[in-house]
Amino acid sequence: MSELAATPLLEVDRLSVHFPQHGGGWFRRHRQVLRAVENVSLTVESGETVALVGESGSGKTTLGSVVAGLRTPTAGRLRFRGQPLEGARRGIQIVFQDPYSALDPRMPVSSLIAEPLLIQRVGTAAERRARTAALVEQVGLPADALNRYPHEFSGGQRQRIAIARALAPDPALIVADEPLSALDVSVQSQILNLLKSIQETRKLSYLFISHDLGVVNHLADRVAVLYLGRLAELAPAAELFARPSHPYTQALLTAIPRIGRRRTRGSRTLRSEMPSPLAPPPGCVFHPRCPKAQAICRTEPPALAPAPGRPRQLAACHFKD
Ligand SMILES: Nc1ncnc2c1ncn2[C@@H]1O[C@H](COP(=O)(O)OP(=O)(O)OP(=O)(O)O)[C@@H](O)[C@H]1O
Ligand SMILES: [Mg+2]
Repeated sequence: MSELAATPLLEVDRLSVHFPQHGGGWFRRHRQVLRAVENVSLTVESGETVALVGESGSGKTTLGSVVAGLRTPTAGRLRFRGQPLEGARRGIQIVFQDPYSALDPRMPVSSLIAEPLLIQRVGTAAERRARTAALVEQVGLPADALNRYPHEFSGGQRQRIAIARALAPDPALIVADEPLSALDVSVQSQILNLLKSIQETRKLSYLFISHDLGVVNHLADRVAVLYLGRLAELAPAAELFARPSHPYTQALLTAIPRIGRRRTRGSRTLRSEMPSPLAPPPGCVFHPRCPKAQAICRTEPPALAPAPGRPRQLAACHFKD
């Protein structure tokens, strides 16, 4: 039994996602491959929030969509409660950045929320109606919302509808891909509080994708920092924010955006552009932008390993703090 208790809710095991690049003609000998996610391993425990952070193009959405079952990985394995993911579709749901494009405008809210239940043949029609009404209440929408259409709601209310829809199959894990970024600043903290309170009542886990390190600091138990598709750092949020180990994390933290700012613009130490994932630098992929880089960094990829004296704080750096 103790072994069972130790099984994480979600295990991502050496996952890679490569996109072969088309174009250049059929005769091209060296077809390029874009390495969006490269050899990423992490876990999400029951009730835990793991944040995925990193600059635009670092592979956050690609990794999240594999976890949500929307994309097949090139390599690696996923396990949900110790089992292959295929059997666990209901257990993982996704909430997207833009609630408007995620919701079919021709469907009333009642159908939008009940649809996942209908598809998976959960309960009787009466049971589905009761569950839908309860969900509408739980996400803080008025009861008369059930008969209305997405365009009749504000952005924040639409995100509440999308959250209710994601909750309908009673998942254990929600992948939330920038769920606040499209919302007005004044609404962001309301939706953040809703996500928190739902988590407390349902013991839900989140894989929470965000540019906004201020939000991540509020919400996350652990943080995974992606750089060019690879894990740069993986650590409890308190430790990572108090004492980032990887130079890339340190650079990100020097420019913590306030809640509501949409994008991390980069900081003084990250002046140069992120290299193309079509041609990742040799050795440590961060070395061309790293203030600490030495000769070894240009040739030897660093392993993800604990920072000195901090067994739960992992960083992929030859000179981690
Ligand atoms: N379907 C696709 N085909 C080809 N390349 C893709 C595809 N989806 C993503 N990519 C590439 O994979 C890399 C990672 O993209 P991804 O969308 O996962 O990044 P992200 O971290 O979510 O960025 P953002 O913060 O802008 O949302 C990028 O270089 C992107 O151009
Ligand atoms: Mg994205």
